[in-house]
Order: sequence, then C-alpha cells, then structure tokens
Amino acid sequence: MKRKVWKLIGRPEGTNFESALSLVDEDLSDPTNGQIQIRLKIISMDAGTRMWMSDRQDSYQPPIELGASMVGVCLAEVSKSSNPKFKEGDLVRGFGEWADYANVDSDSFLLLEEGLDHEEAYLSALGLNGWTAYVGVMEVGKPKPGENFLVSAAAGATGSLAGQIAKKAGCRVIGLAGSQEKCDWLVNDLGFDVAINYKEENLDSALKKHCPDGVDIYFDNVAGEVLNTVMANLALNARIPLSGLLAQYNEKGARLPGPDNFDQLLMKRATITGFFCPDFLEDGPRIEALLSEWYKEGSLKYKADVTEGLENVLVAYKKIFTGENIGKTLVKV
Ligand SMILES: NC(=O)c1ccc[n+]([C@@H]2O[C@H](COP(=O)([O-])OP(=O)(O)OC[C@H]3O[C@@H](n4cnc5c(N)ncnc54)[C@H](OP(=O)(O)O)[C@@H]3O)[C@@H](O)[C@H]2O)c1
Repeated sequence: MKRKVWKLIGRPEGTNFESALSLVDEDLSDPTNGQIQIRLKIISMDAGTRMWMSDRQDSYQPPIELGASMVGVCLAEVSKSSNPKFKEGDLVRGFGEWADYANVDSDSFLLLEEGLDHEEAYLSALGLNGWTAYVGVMEVGKPKPGENFLVSAAAGATGSLAGQIAKKAGCRVIGLAGSQEKCDWLVNDLGFDVAINYKEENLDSALKKHCPDGVDIYFDNVAGEVLNTVMANLALNARIPLSGLLAQYNEKGARLPGPDNFDQLLMKRATITGFFCPDFLEDGPRIEALLSEWYKEGSLKYKADVTEGLENVLVAYKKIFTGENIGKTLVKV
C-alpha cells in the first residue's frame, strides 16, 4: 500500500518550516517481526521537537537526519498486527511519524482504554504535557500552600496544566499569556488567580504589583527576556523548574546566554533546575493514575486547538511559535 509521510529535507530557519519539510508518498509493506501497522488518528504538535529539526548536537535528543521522517507523539488505531498482543482496531499511543500510516515497534506503543469521551486528552492532560506539568510543579518546584507560583506560556498545553496542578497544591497561581482571550480562559475557566498579558503590560511592573513579596516558583517554558525579568522579582528560596526554552528554539546558533540578574540566585538563595519528564519514568504509573483521577473528576481541564488534515500539519506546528494556539495543538489526520 501507499502512505503519506512528512520528511525533513532541510534545516529550517526560524519558522520557515515549509522550506524544510515535504509531504511525500511512499510504499508501506505489511508489518512483520512483532511490529504493528497503525492508522494515525491525531498527531501531537510539541514545541521541543523543533530542536531535533536543527543540527544541534547537544540537545537531549539527537537531530533528525535529513531525509528521515518527522516524528512525534500520536494517537492511532492498529490497522494490521504481527503481534498477538495487539489486534486490528486497538487504540494505541506512542512515538510515531507525521504520517497517515506507519509500521512501528509494538513495545514502544501503549494500549489505551477505549471509551474516553475526548480522545485528545490522551495527548494533553493524560499525556506528555500532563506528565511534564506534574513533574515540574510537584517534583522540581516542591510547592507549599500560599506560595506565589508563576508560569510562562500559561495558556499552552504544558503551562495550562502546570498552573492547575499548582493550584491543587495550594499555591496562588499567576499565568503569563500573549492575549486577552488566553488570560480570560486562564482566570475564568481554569481558576488561575491572575493572568498577565505580557505582550501588552510591562512585565516587571505587573510582577511587582501582583507578587510584591516575589515569585516563589517560576515554571519556565520560555527562558529569554521573560526569565530575565522574573529573575529580578524572585522571593527568598525561589525555585525555577526549567521546562523549556521556547524563546530560543527558532534562533540560529542555538546557544542561549545565561539570564540577566544572575546575582539574584545568590541574593535570594534561589535555584534553577532543568528537568526532562522521561527521567521520571519509574514514577509513571503513579503520576498517570493521579492525572487520570483529576481528569475524570473534571478538576484538570485542557483545551484542544485542532487542525484538520495531515497536509495542514505545518499550519498547526507554526501556531506554537507564533502564539496562535490556545491549549494543546493537535492535527487530526
Ligand atoms: N522538559 C520536558 O520534559 C518538556 C516536555 C514537554 C514540553 N516541554 C516544554 O514545554 C514548553 C511548552 O511546550 P508546548 O508544546 O506545551 O507548547 P505550548 O505551550 O502549547 O505553545 C507554545 C506557547 O509558547 C509561547 N511562545 C511561543 N514562542 C515564544 C517565544 N519566542 N517567547 C515566549 N513565549 C513564546 C506562546 O504563547 P504566548 O504567546 O501566550 O506566550 C505559545 O502559544 C516548551 O518549552 C517545551 O519544550 C518540556
């Protein structure tokens, strides 16, 4: 049979993804040796994958080779199986390709419970973003009730969940987002205490107004200028779980200098801790059970920003970097 798959044919400059990725037709054989063939239903758009498109060698994941398929987390249905543990029609999640069909190693795919009202949840609240949010807030941030918790890219997939989890831990939650619509969603629907439109307001003044005693935990998804400003507004013993470097992913040359106001780490006895959610794999079942309980009782919410059609994947992907997405960016194949 024939399949469609996105190939990386060049290294993108900035957000010019069209010049670096191409949707091609190719042959797909039947799965063998325990592999399964999957029909992709939904593909997750994740900011971190931008790093693997570049030729950066010092990332936590090696670069994707030119000519290889673009990869990402996906939700799929088994269409053919050479493994008796999987049958046609099973719902699975794993690390696949940006494609309509693929043959994958079944060990790297998880069989999912059918019948969830909204399958998108498997790629957001119950997926990588939920997990990242939990680890960053609870394991790295170590929140205490009453502390000021700040999160950037707050109306994005990871940030929106991080804020809700910090709220569960009793924090006062402040989100940074780039539009009024996003700020309204954070406060009115997700229960954030404050949302700051950092593209309109002066961030330093807003932080001094809303956190006069300083920020206790800053869940950093972006680094760059925002981090520079937050560094000047830390509370004593502040913690900064460093989740991602969105302000840098599209920059050429890759390396980001250390933050301004570096002296404040000493003055405030503060820490910045980079974390990577797969490092917490052995804690996966406990975290997944908690996320699932919260999601099913309705206390952990997400919004899906869905683009239809595999051919429109780049439209969806770009949204993450222009800030046009609200919540989790997904492509329905
Ligand atoms: N450490 C881990 O294990 C792990 C795992 C998963 C994800 N992550 C990280 O989590 C972060 C969020 O990723 P996501 O996939 O959930 O994306 P997302 O938050 O759903 O979307 C990205 C949002 O970031 C903001 N943004 C985009 N470019 C920016 C820039 N140059 N400067 C400041 N803000 C910018 C935009 O929101 P506004 O315009 O509203 O600000 C945009 O909507 C990324 O840094 C990613 O690498 C880390």
